[in-house]
Amino acid sequence: MNVDRSPTSPELIDDPRFSFPQTRRWKTWEPGRERLFLKLLGEFRDRPARFLEIGSFEGASAIWMLRNVLTHPESRLTCVDNDKLGCGRQLEANLAASGLSSKAKIHWINSHDVRKHVPDNHFDFVYVDGSHAAANVLFDVVNAYLICRPGGLVGCDDYLFELPEDGSVPKPAIDAFLQLVGDRVEVVHSGYQLWFRKRADAAASGSGSSPI
Ligand SMILES: C[S@@+](CC[C@H](N)C(=O)[O-])C[C@H]1O[C@@H](n2cnc3c(N)ncnc32)[C@H](O)[C@@H]1O
Repeated sequence: MNVDRSPTSPELIDDPRFSFPQTRRWKTWEPGRERLFLKLLGEFRDRPARFLEIGSFEGASAIWMLRNVLTHPESRLTCVDNDKLGCGRQLEANLAASGLSSKAKIHWINSHDVRKHVPDNHFDFVYVDGSHAAANVLFDVVNAYLICRPGGLVGCDDYLFELPEDGSVPKPAIDAFLQLVGDRVEVVHSGYQLWFRKRADAAASGSGSSPI
């Protein structure tokens, strides 16, 4: 994969066409993530791909994926956010400034409801970066697994996040999910983020009345 034409994260964050005040403040998108994304998502570059992101905030990860991975004209990104942090207008403005908003669709919904809006077994990559509360993370990772196509990838940010939200953190929820699905998934990266591939023969477990 040729990474030379990819802008680096600081270039994205500092690009005067965009405004990422909270992203910059909280460092929610930084060079380590960019390297990881390039390594794990390179297979989708320059070919039609469908991504979904739970938690888009001001759009840094979304715009980075659109510019660096979803490069094929038919590639699309679905953003899911409940605007809990009030960044909705920023996300829309940044997407418009990217010139790539026609490749993105935003659902302003709670992530719990994502399966009312998108099909199962559909996405090549699902990025889970919404709530940090364990119950919500469990919901999100189960939904991500279900809407991911067999053979596709799921990436969970903040696997090792330590600041409790609603008295809980993401890791036990993601670990519980991994224990439930067993070898239907293959963990492909475990660090601050946890990424897994839904096995190609996992289709039957992704629809119908017995989802996991
Ligand atoms: C850490 S930010 C996402 C950062 C973004 N992925 C990036 O790297 O640029 C988390 C986002 O998740 C959203 N969020 C939190 N809980 C949610 C929920 N239950 N459903 C949908 N969105 C949620 C927040 O509104 C916020 O925009």
